[in-house]
Order: sequence, then C-alpha cells, then structure tokens
Amino acid sequence: MRATIDADRLRERFDAFNEIGATERGGVDRPSLSPENREARDRLVEWFEAADLAVTVDEMGNLFGRRPGSDDSLAPVLLGSHVDSQYNGGRYDGVLGVLGALEVVEALNDAGTGTERPVEVVAWSNEEGVRFQPDMLGSGVFAGVFDVEYAHGREDKEGNRFGDELERIGYAGTAPCEPRDLHCYLELHVEQGPYLDEGDLSIGVVEGVYGFSWANVAFEGQADHAGPTPMHLRHDALVATSDVVQSVRRIAGTGGADLVGTVGSIDAHPNSINVIPERVEFTLDFRSYDDGVVEAAVDRARREVEWAAEREDVEWEFEEIMRIDAAPFADECIEAVERAARSVVGEDDYTRIVSGAGHDASYLNEICPTGMIFVPSVGGISHVEEEYTEWEDVVRGVEVLLGAVLEKADE
Ligand code: GLV
Ligand code: MN
Ligand code: MN
Repeated sequence: MRATIDADRLRERFDAFNEIGATERGGVDRPSLSPENREARDRLVEWFEAADLAVTVDEMGNLFGRRPGSDDSLAPVLLGSHVDSQYNGGRYDGVLGVLGALEVVEALNDAGTGTERPVEVVAWSNEEGVRFQPDMLGSGVFAGVFDVEYAHGREDKEGNRFGDELERIGYAGTAPCEPRDLHCYLELHVEQGPYLDEGDLSIGVVEGVYGFSWANVAFEGQADHAGPTPMHLRHDALVATSDVVQSVRRIAGTGGADLVGTVGSIDAHPNSINVIPERVEFTLDFRSYDDGVVEAAVDRARREVEWAAEREDVEWEFEEIMRIDAAPFADECIEAVERAARSVVGEDDYTRIVSGAGHDASYLNEICPTGMIFVPSVGGISHVEEEYTEWEDVVRGVEVLLGAVLEKADE
C-alpha cells in the first residue's frame, strides 16, 4: 500500500490543536513556555505516543518523536517546526510544520511503510523570540550556536528566566541538546509573504533563508514637565527615536534591493501625556539574502542612532542581540523537495523561492543538509491573527513533505 495523507485526520488535529490558546479573532496566543504552550506540548506528546513514536525531551525543551528505521543505526531524517506563537499570532506559523510532520509519520504507519532510516518529528522551543530573545533558541542550541547556560539564562520582560520557566511547565528534559548526526532536516511552513499567493502557486521550493540582525537600542534624555519646559531646553528620548524610525525606512529603501528594516517594539518611559519622555527602548530588525547588505544596514543604523542622540543631546545605547547569516540550502534537499513538488502539483504550480522569515531550518542548515517547503499565505499576511492558508494548499504541502521523506529516508 502506498503511503497517503489522511486529510481529515490532519484537519481534525489542526483545529483541535488551535483551540489551545485560541483568540477571539481567530488566531492563537501561545507564547513560548506559557500555560498554553505547555498544553500544546502535552497534546503533541499524547499524539506522538499514539503514533508509536518514542518521545524525548531535551534540556532546551525541544520535543522529539522517533519512528525507528529498518537500520536504526543510520542517521535519521528530521522533520518539524515550532508550536510557540507570536502574541496573538496566527494558526499556521510553525504548527503546520509539526502537525504536517506527524501526519507524514501517521501515513507511513497506516501503510505499513518501513524506511531504512529513522524518521523523527521535532517541535523546537522558542522559535518566535517574542517572549525570550533571541529567536530560534532551541534549534540554535541544538546546532551548537548557543550554549545551554546562555539559553537558560535568557529573561522575559518580567525577569523570568527561560530555564526556570521550562522547569515550571514541566519540559526541562534531560536529553543533551547538542549537534548529532542527521541525514537531513525538512521543514514545512507557510510562506508568510505574498509571492505564492500573487503568483497563484501552491508550493514554494525554498532555496534558502535571509540573514538578519536584531538590535536593542535605547535613548536616555531628561524627563520634565510638558508645559513649562521651553522647546530649546528639552532632551526628548522619543524625538531621537522617531528620527531613527524614519532613518530605518531610508536605509531599507536604499541599502539593497531585498533589504527590509523594521522598528517593531517601542517602550517609552514614563509614557505619560504631560511628561517629556526620559527613556525609550526600541528594537531594530534588518534582513536580506546578502549578509554584506545586512552588515552595512546595521552600521548605518548605528550611525543614525549616534547622530540622533547628538541632535537631541541624549545618551544612547546600541546592542546587537542576534545576527544570523543567510542560509542557502543544500542542493540535494532543494532538489528532493522539487521532485516531490513536481509529482504532487505538476510543473506549473510551484516555484523556487527564498524565505524572508527566519526559521529553525537556518540553524539546522549549519549541521546537516536542510530543505523547506512553503505553502501560500493568503494576502501574504502572517504573525497576525488573520494568517490564513487554503486547506487544499496545506494538504498539498504535507503531500510534498511525504514525497521528500520517502526519498530521503531510504537513501
Ligand atoms: C521568526 O518568526 C521571524 O522571522 O522573526
Ligand atoms: Mn515559524
Ligand atoms: Mn513566526
């Protein structure tokens, strides 16, 4: 019997899973290591066990389910993504890659299809990086980019440590989180951008992921009364910030064709209608497929911060908290995904594409051949509750994943 996806089972699980942390506007709120994230993990463990997968939790809380190979000593094919979400995020981001991977294993089980290599499903911890920075922390430690102590010590805005929160939700596992021998890593994900939807295409064969830089910036001026303080005596941290926000637009517009730049988070203190802002903390996010372009953008932004501080006579701080290089994937994985895409949707319904969003696949790419499959995001919208992918495209994406796994797991 040929292994095939059971679209109804997948749909039922997808809907049931997204009831966990469901928001009124149709999204999910399951940030890293929250009670909802714990419930999502519990559900996965239940389903992994029901699918006869051997469950392991490592010291970063990365959750693995392993299906043995006929030669279990061979390096496994690893599939997955993440189940933490943005605050009020979408139902597809990450979830699709994990539940899609589980469905692939279920399809193999249903058909009684053995594979030479073990197949493992993984849900990585803290991919989004909204509660604990940097993002992709679980896969980053797994790939040897960060050490466990550094990762456990990351704090959220309330000062809660990642390691303590992992303990609190019961997912501080004992398996070492470190690089190990993998045959390849494959991740199914929604595109999160507009190109597949605009082109009316079902599948993106991902060639690689943009590099990016995140920085924390702060200006420190002088709080004072908004009434009696004349304009020429002010040291307004928010005015300096607004100059930098504008300059990020200019940098992105002139720094390289694919360069994007965002100020996504601002905290102003004391944040009062009649007090001149004393301190403002904000973030920078620059991305491009060309690492030199990212580097130049960060340098320009740092100069803009210095100049803005000088003009407003305020103190400044600039700390780059994460830099990841662009990740061009291995040809063997791109080609395996492309063959699977061609056989599922035909020659004219897929395209090669590069990812502007960050993915755990970027770090896995440093330790094993890696590939990704994209399905369209309607309207190109993501990281918001409106995130949506047509169900037929979800199913096609999982079928492509299955095709690629059938090839790679028997190599
Ligand atoms: C992760 O979702 C990112 O691209 O920021
Ligand atoms: Mn994601
Ligand atoms: Mn995301």
